[in-house]
Amino acid sequence: MSLAEQKAVVAHTADVFEPAVADGDIVTKAAKAVLKESSERGGGIQMMNVDKIYPGSPDKALDDFNLDIKPGEMVVLLGGSGCGKSTALRSLAGLEDIQAGRILVGGQDVTATPVNKREMAMVFQSYSLFPHMTALQNVEFGLEVRGVSKAERRRIAGEKLELVGLSDQANKYTQQMSGGQQQRVALARALAVHPRVLLLDEPLSALDAKVRVQLRDEIRRIQLETGTTTVFVTHDQEEALAVADRIGVMNHGRIEQIAAPKTLYQRPETEYVATFIGLTNRLPGVSNGDEAVVFGQRVPLIDGSRAGGNVTVLVRPESLTLSGQSHVGEPGRVEAVHFLGALARVDVAVALGERLRVTVQLPANELPAGLAVGSDVVVAPRPVAALAV
Ligand SMILES: Nc1ncnc2c1ncn2[C@@H]1O[C@H](COP(=O)(O)OP(=O)(O)OP(=O)(O)O)[C@@H](O)[C@H]1O
Ligand SMILES: [Mg+2]
Repeated sequence: MSLAEQKAVVAHTADVFEPAVADGDIVTKAAKAVLKESSERGGGIQMMNVDKIYPGSPDKALDDFNLDIKPGEMVVLLGGSGCGKSTALRSLAGLEDIQAGRILVGGQDVTATPVNKREMAMVFQSYSLFPHMTALQNVEFGLEVRGVSKAERRRIAGEKLELVGLSDQANKYTQQMSGGQQQRVALARALAVHPRVLLLDEPLSALDAKVRVQLRDEIRRIQLETGTTTVFVTHDQEEALAVADRIGVMNHGRIEQIAAPKTLYQRPETEYVATFIGLTNRLPGVSNGDEAVVFGQRVPLIDGSRAGGNVTVLVRPESLTLSGQSHVGEPGRVEAVHFLGALARVDVAVALGERLRVTVQLPANELPAGLAVGSDVVVAPRPVAALAV
């Protein structure tokens, strides 16, 4: 998206401006008011059977895409490059025309509503701030184009800068700010127009690791405080797990599974989801439908697992045990030991027909005494539900 296009989005995200709650015990009061309002306004989102085909492209960028978001919820769209995350967000914002399907916000059909009437605000990967303006002026911009009085917009902009922790930087030019600070300004600017829906397209990907973590936690705090219905796009699974109420894992233009982070991690419904989120071992097993025998031990199977016979069971590293000597499990030899502070990860080569390398994760204080590269060990699965494919 060009800078001009981004400016247009920033300028026209909402036609109806409703000032946020003023002083008092700011946080709680504002949060309550906004939450109440967001459910009154029914600020949820429904995207139903949406197809998006870019001109000249043989493939659908969105293919029967469905997404249902509750008011005040933070949904993260996660997936590899090119799976359609940005397209889903842009279609929701009205920046892309769609070829099939419907989009509802707060129960109202906005499929044919232009971008400037959808009352959404977007934050992009690149900060897209106006460099010749101060932080305060940047935040005021969206309010100015809506004709909010000078005193009022100064008050709101100040409040939003405080929310993102930049009160003391209000009069600094944005080109003199760090990447993290600039992205805070962009966030404050988006929130200033009091959007029904906040859209974040990889807002942290241009930042270094430490700032990313700080800012993602802050985005989540602010989102909870303001109760803004939010869609956050990332290809970083850790980021997704950390901030989301629910994560939608996208593949080939549709959501393959959408669930709370814990559910997605513990009960992935497809191989793509299981391998996209977290580490997983692919272990040979024999299934009877409800459970599989892996390394001589029984492992319960998740719904949607491949039915019977020889299967591959996707077992998380922490769902494996390691012992120096045991009569249950599969013998193997330690190939690497990685200490991760409280946890340790051990790579073990087991001799199962073909050589198979498995990764076991356990609390560091449960490592067998004297364990080192070359040690003989026995690996066995815990009775934790897993997906068979
Ligand atoms: N303007 C465009 N014209 C034609 N094809 C496009 C356009 N924008 C995106 N696409 C294609 O649509 C598909 C989805 O792209 P999209 O940008 O939504 O992916 P993404 O999941 O956001 O990827 P990334 O993680 O790399 O940002 C891709 O195959 C991409 O090449
Ligand atoms: Mg993208």
